[in-house]
Amino acid sequence: MDSKSIQQIKQRYGIVGNYEGLNRSIDIAIQVAPTDLSVLIFGESGVGKEVLPRVIHDNSRRKHNKYFAINCGSLPEGTIDSELFGHKKGSFTGALDDREGYFGVANNGTLFLDEVGELPLATQARLLRVLETGEYIRVGESEVRKTDVRIVAATNVNMQKAIREGKFREDLYYRLNTIPISIPPLRERGRDIELLFRKFAYDISEKYRIEPVRLTEDARILLLKYKWPGNIRQLRNLVEQISIISQEREITADILKGYGVTDDSLGETGLVLHSMNRDPHVAEAHSYEKERDMLFQLLSSIGKEVKDLKELVHNNMQSATQDNYHVFSEDTPVRETPMPYVHSQVIQQSQPYMVNESGYSPKSRMHYNHGAIQDVDIETIEETPMSNKELMKKNIIDSLRRNNGNRKKTAKELDISERTLYRKIKDYGLEI
Ligand SMILES: Nc1ncnc2c1ncn2[C@@H]1O[C@H](COP(=O)(O)OP(=O)(O)OP(=O)(O)O)[C@@H](O)[C@H]1O
Ligand SMILES: [Mg+2]
Repeated sequence: MDSKSIQQIKQRYGIVGNYEGLNRSIDIAIQVAPTDLSVLIFGESGVGKEVLPRVIHDNSRRKHNKYFAINCGSLPEGTIDSELFGHKKGSFTGALDDREGYFGVANNGTLFLDEVGELPLATQARLLRVLETGEYIRVGESEVRKTDVRIVAATNVNMQKAIREGKFREDLYYRLNTIPISIPPLRERGRDIELLFRKFAYDISEKYRIEPVRLTEDARILLLKYKWPGNIRQLRNLVEQISIISQEREITADILKGYGVTDDSLGETGLVLHSMNRDPHVAEAHSYEKERDMLFQLLSSIGKEVKDLKELVHNNMQSATQDNYHVFSEDTPVRETPMPYVHSQVIQQSQPYMVNESGYSPKSRMHYNHGAIQDVDIETIEETPMSNKELMKKNIIDSLRRNNGNRKKTAKELDISERTLYRKIKDYGLEI
């Protein structure tokens, strides 16, 4: 595909970047779109896997039919089969009506199965059958139904490992993986990091009518050296935080360091992530175990710091709000209005971090308020670090409290699936 057409796709879907590996992913998506082949999209968390299934659907013969994006990790295990394949009225408690299920309603269309690695084994067996024969059976029925659905799936988990551990069927993996598309991690994308920074800075400046932040040369170099474990999602969060919290509009390397951006080429934090191999099969063999252990240690030791920081950010923001928040320029009309929204945004950004099943939540927000970190009295940091389990338990309790016990909201806030949350609540004996 010529580069002009790739540029058009990028414009249409708001994809920023010129990195060759990204162009290649878009190119494959376009080439495969007109076929009915299954596509499996690989990539670390936050690299931008969610846009390609839509690109594939919109460029296929199915484009006028239904497209559904389903997050397999968020469907409760008890209802997942009925959600996907439908059920017959009365087939289980709560089945008050017949339900068509996604495979029925998406007939002639496309289903995007996000976080496909989270599917329970029983559902995997049903999925394999429908992929191979186009046939499925609703829960509680024996009648075989036919459907014609194109599957695009995505995963950020190590599928080879999941197969080795018996969590994912190998035959299903190969069936889904007819066309693999690997999306490169942000740390490999070079100049794109700067482009994305500018895009997010511009977006937020438009949204809040503030002057966009700019990078100094040393800041630009630091961004290139940082490993970006949470990829583009992390970069976006960082730019949003700096845009709102920092008093400066010209962002230096020192300011960035205050937000946790480190020169990983020096191995400062020890959280050096390995570069992802571009072969998707090999890429998925990437292991976070080493990083996870180090991260656990780091998390434990900074547990109290983060709590203090939350309070500091909260207090700082309160006084900033009272002072007619400083990031607004003199002549913007917004300046005169109180800033409850900006305030809540900032507080939201300083929510607690969470360790997920794989030991690390790339969506976690561990950025430190520039300046505020210096106010934390290092002497007060507890000597005995919390265990990972205690840390996770505490986060769940805090989050449940904040969300008045609402499990859906809690799971969302902690970036874990509802199913995982239910299991943790049970494991930790938090059930009321
Ligand atoms: N090239 C890009 N240009 C602009 N925005 C991007 C780009 N890639 C990703 N994003 C944005 O980054 C965020 C994360 O992307 P996305 O949700 O697709 O990640 P993901 O790969 O699905 O991560 P996860 O595995 O955690 O679900 C989204 O807000 C998305 O719009
Ligand atoms: Mg996703």
